[in-house]
Amino acid sequence: MDFYEVIEKRRTVRDFEAEEIADAVIERIILAALKAPTNDHMRDWHYIVVRDRETVVKLLDAIPKGISDEDMDKLIRDWNLDDSLQQECYRKAVPKQYRMLFEASAVIIPLLKQKTDILHPDNISHLNGFASIWCSIENLFLAAVAEGYGCNLRIPLGEESEYAREVLGYPDDYYMPCFIGIGKPKDNVPLPKQKDINVKDRIHWDRF
Ligand SMILES: Cc1cc2nc3c(=O)[nH]c(=O)nc-3n(C[C@H](O)[C@H](O)[C@H](O)COP(=O)(O)O)c2cc1C
Repeated sequence: MDFYEVIEKRRTVRDFEAEEIADAVIERIILAALKAPTNDHMRDWHYIVVRDRETVVKLLDAIPKGISDEDMDKLIRDWNLDDSLQQECYRKAVPKQYRMLFEASAVIIPLLKQKTDILHPDNISHLNGFASIWCSIENLFLAAVAEGYGCNLRIPLGEESEYAREVLGYPDDYYMPCFIGIGKPKDNVPLPKQKDINVKDRIHWDRF
């Protein structure tokens, strides 16, 4: 697939076919993830690929299984989501947080070695490791598309990541930035519209 076609096709997929994903495909995708730019040249990243159903159920247990209409309206208000397109994205995404991972062919947990307190960095460079793993995650998403698969992601809230650590047994000095669900996208599921952006409005030649 042409690179720009991969970029266009990459959308957050929250509805999957019930289909297995082969080890070799996962390996190619994660190899692509491991080629991403890195702040310290070490690429001290690990990816836990969870396919065992019992482990998936345990891993996702702390994630809310749905949301009431009232709570959804409250979330839209509390988070000041004024844009109608943005609201549509949240209304489509939030109720699927559990299901989009549960029904994925695999749940992938990226891990980075975090040496400083990510919530209280002394300066922005202390977030470089965190920034690097997101480059790696984007490589993974793009490679998944090139292989005919799709991904979603969830930022762990509350105790979800500590719970994941217990279930998966990853070491204390590793940090999990998100959950990733990967699988074959279901056909004909309408995706929220991406905001139209005119590139000419966002490029500033020589100065803003
Ligand atoms: C940093 C970051 C955090 C995100 N957190 C979540 C999340 O917790 N749950 C979710 O379903 N999607 C999450 N997403 C996916 C976005 O909702 C999605 O990328 C956005 O709606 C645009 O849609 P697209 O990816 O199909 O272009 C996140 C994306 C990013 C980059």
